Order: sequence, then structure tokens, then C-alpha cells
Amino acid sequence: MKIRSGGHDYEGVSYVSDVPFFILICSTFVQSMSVLKMRLHGFKLEQLLVKFLQNCRENLSTVGVGGHFSGGGYGNMMRKYGLSVDNIIDAQIIDVNGRILDRASMGEDLFWAITGGGGSSFGVVLAYKIKLVRVPSTVTVFRVTRTYEQNLTNIVYSYQQVADKLPEEIFVRMTLGVVNSSVRTGEKTNIATFLTLFLGDSEKLLPHE
Ligand SMILES: Cc1cc2nc3c(=O)[nH]c(=O)nc-3n(C[C@H](O)[C@H](O)[C@H](O)COP(=O)(O)OP(=O)(O)OC[C@H]3O[C@@H](n4cnc5c(N)ncnc54)[C@H](O)[C@@H]3O)c2cc1C
Ligand SMILES: *[C@@H]1O[C@H](CO)[C@@H](O)[C@H](O)[C@H]1NC(C)=O
Ligand SMILES: *[C@@H]1O[C@H](CO)[C@@H](O)[C@H](O)[C@H]1NC(C)=O
Ligand SMILES: *[C@@H]1O[C@H](CO)[C@@H](O)[C@H](O)[C@H]1NC(C)=O
Repeated sequence: MKIRSGGHDYEGVSYVSDVPFFILICSTFVQSMSVLKMRLHGFKLEQLLVKFLQNCRENLSTVGVGGHFSGGGYGNMMRKYGLSVDNIIDAQIIDVNGRILDRASMGEDLFWAITGGGGSSFGVVLAYKIKLVRVPSTVTVFRVTRTYEQNLTNIVYSYQQVADKLPEEIFVRMTLGVVNSSVRTGEKTNIATFLTLFLGDSEKLLPHE
């Protein structure tokens, strides 16, 4: 039996096998969702989330929480709020004997395993209870690229000196790649991409320049 949520598995574990198999498609599980005591600027956060999840169901190419949460889940707010799994309070799993267990009845070892160790070796996760975090109504995002000809070496070096010392509200993710050079025709060059999320408006971000 293969367990598939969003189907985004890079290795294809959720949908490839050398022997005959069937797939349990968990994306259809996204049917119920409850938010306790949460109100945001007068409208119900619950309605917003349910609408979002309905969209996710329609777009089956979307990363699913089944794999994302059970595998750990990093994101652009992780410096401030940790990994996705750091915000999971409880879970429900059905084990090989058909028992439905929560965190208390499965025990901390199994709970640990399905919040970072990958879910499918252990059972089918039916539900996660998560802690939501507060995000300011205005955030700042930007994406800057620099090639070798644009001082990439020094900039990457500087990034490595400051990235972990910036306030936790600032997340700067750097990826390195290779692109065609715009200066030397027919040649390639290195490129660094800096993708940034700041939990606040640009006025608050600029002093950190
Ligand atoms: C375009 C893209 C962008 C990505 N970006 C990020 C990112 O920013 N941060 C990050 O952390 N990861 C990222 N990932 C990785 C992604 O989080 C993992 O591949 C994740 O495992 C996908 O989950 P899924 O439910 O979509 O995949 P699936 O293929 O459905 O499942 C992945 C694994 O989890 C198991 N599984 C799924 N549902 C359950 C369940 N209910 N119970 C038990 N086991 C289950 C499957 O059997 C399989 O082993 C990205 C992946 C892609 C393709
Ligand atoms: C799902 O896809 C539709 C149409 O392609 C799009 O309008 C919508 O924003 C998508 N929803 C999500 C959550 O990605
Ligand atoms: C390249 O980067 C270094 C370090 O950030 C800086 O001192 C130098 O002025 C930069 N040079 C150019 C040409 O931008
Ligand atoms: C890069 O250059 C090669 C030829 O040198 C060309 O085939 C390719 O399409 C170019 N890629 C991009 C993204 O422009």
C-alpha cells in the first residue's frame, strides 16, 4: 500500500513500487478542519483556511501536509517559528492493526517519528493538530540575483557572515546556480539568488541594511 497526499515526493515513494500495489489517496481526507478560538480582524480565520484547503484539493500538484509535516517541513518563517513540526501539538494515526491513536496513546517515540521521520513507514496519519503563528498584516518580500560578474564571490561571502546574525524576522535564502553569461556570449556564469521574507514592512527592514 502506498500512501499519497500531495504526491510531491521527490523519490516517488508515494506512488512507485517494483511490486503490484494500490494507492491510498489522502488528499481527499481534507474534509474537516476546525480552528479553536481564532478570530482575525473580524472575519473568521476558519473560513479562510477552509477555502484555501478546498483550493488545494482542486490543485493536486500542491505539496500536501501528509508528506510535508511528516517529513519535517522547512519554510521562510523557520528562523522565528522553527520547522512545521515544531508547531505540531498532536496527531492522529491509524496503525497496521487498525487502531486509531493520538499522541498520548501512540507514545512520544512514534509521535517523534511521524513529525520528521517520514510518515509512510509507520501508518497513515489522519490528522494533525497545529499551533498557528501570528504574522504581521504587512510583510516584505524580495528576490535579488547576482552573477559572478556582479561581484557574486564577495556578496556570497558577506551573506555567510551575516545570515545567521540577522533578526529572526528576516529570512534570506541563498541558492547557487549556473546561467548563460550576458557578458560573454556562449559562456556560462555562476548566479546567486537571494530570496527574502521579512515579517514587517519595508520601513522596519531598511535600518538593517
Ligand atoms: C515544488 C516543491 C517545493 C517544495 N518546497 C518545500 C519547502 O519549501 N519546504 C519543505 O520542507 N519541503 C518542500 N518540498 C518537499 C515536500 O515538502 C516533500 O516532498 C513532502 O514530502 C511532500 O509531501 P506530499 O504530501 O505532497 O507528498 P507525497 O508524495 O504525497 O508524500 C510524501 C511522503 O509522505 C508519505 N505520506 C503522505 N501522506 C501521508 C499520510 N497521511 N500518512 C503517512 N504518510 C504519508 C508518503 O507515503 C511519502 O512517503 C517541496 C517539494 C516540491 C516538489
Ligand atoms: C488552484 O488552481 C486555480 C486554477 O488554476 C487557482 O486559481 C488557485 O489559486 C489555485 N489554488 C491554490 C491554493 O494554489
Ligand atoms: C564587491 O563586494 C565587496 C564586499 O561586499 C565590496 O567591498 C566591493 O566594493 C564590491 N565591489 C563592487 C565592484 O561592487
Ligand atoms: C543558453 O545558451 C544556449 C546556447 O549556448 C542555448 O541553447 C540556451 O537556450 C540558453 N539558455 C537560456 C536560458 O537562455
